[in-house]
Amino acid sequence: MTSKTLTVPAAALGTWAWGDSGEAGDGYFGSRLSESGLREVVEKAQSSGFTLWDSAAVYGMGRSETVLAQALMGYDRSEYQLSTKFTPQIAGDGDNPVADMLEQSLARLGTDYVDLYWIHNPADVARWTPLLIPLLRSGRIKQVGVSNHNLREIALADRILGEAGFRVEAVQNHYSLLYRGSERAGILDHCREHGVPFFSYMVLEQGALTGKYSPANPLPEGSSRAAVYNGVLPRLRTLTDRMRDIGETRGTSAAEVATAWAIAKGTTPIIGVTKPEHVDGLVRARDLKLADEEVAELETLADDANVDTRGSWEHEM
Ligand SMILES: NC(=O)c1ccc[n+]([C@@H]2O[C@H](COP(=O)([O-])OP(=O)(O)OC[C@H]3O[C@@H](n4cnc5c(N)ncnc54)[C@H](OP(=O)(O)O)[C@@H]3O)[C@@H](O)[C@H]2O)c1
Repeated sequence: MTSKTLTVPAAALGTWAWGDSGEAGDGYFGSRLSESGLREVVEKAQSSGFTLWDSAAVYGMGRSETVLAQALMGYDRSEYQLSTKFTPQIAGDGDNPVADMLEQSLARLGTDYVDLYWIHNPADVARWTPLLIPLLRSGRIKQVGVSNHNLREIALADRILGEAGFRVEAVQNHYSLLYRGSERAGILDHCREHGVPFFSYMVLEQGALTGKYSPANPLPEGSSRAAVYNGVLPRLRTLTDRMRDIGETRGTSAAEVATAWAIAKGTTPIIGVTKPEHVDGLVRARDLKLADEEVAELETLADDANVDTRGSWEHEM
């Protein structure tokens, strides 16, 4: 699917966890990531057609962007696309804090433009959205997307950009089997009707929906994701077991079933890949077609689990 200048692969790659690298065990994810390991992730992804990389200035306070640029070293800029974010909560007090944050991201990313620049959340849509217009005009950003916005906030951002001849070109919200607020609020339908790609984040619920974590093998102790998810792992068991069973009949895993579910719903999952084999999983997920009955069954099991995985930074859609 191509939307203006953006080529949207079946899945985008998320690099929030990459902000943990170098600080093994004490970051948000508690992941142990090495430069050489991430380079392998990049090589495998790039050669498999997964060339859209999502980051944010706040991921590891710049470290994710820096590490991503290192891992992409040697690739021509036309071979990959970068998506990163302006986060209102860390805005400075210059004339255009959006431009300032973008310039810092560009320096870390080693590039002079971003393919898709996001307003990370709707802290003050009317205040921040107009500041994107000069950046679109100068070509420093090619497209604007909004993240964690509800329908009303999307419409407001769209109206502001529309006055200058631009529009909201993409939406990025939390969307997983366990968290379907954007669907219930009509945001998926809105995106479909307007030809705007919907990027779903945390499709794997930071590892909790992969089936590989359990009370006996919990998420890394001391990490923020462990604090959120370890307590609910027992309630996810029936769902992840069924995902594993569905996967086994097709030579795939529970994580790949979760990813295939997000694709089947017409969204573009942003998967937080941390290991080369996760990219192999994406290749299988891209080819995995779930039957309508399987989608419905998984959603019922997810509802039965009755867990609320809304992020601390999110508001109801
Ligand atoms: N706009 C926003 O507010 C917002 C918020 C959250 C996320 N995001 C974006 O969405 C991306 C994805 O979210 P996320 O990284 O938080 O979580 P996620 O994609 O739900 O889960 C990522 C975790 O799942 C595991 N994993 C990934 N692929 C796997 C596979 N094929 N098989 C088994 N396990 C696999 C990895 O855990 P291990 O390392 O333990 O193996 C990884 O750290 C982020 O990186 C970020 O780019 C945006």
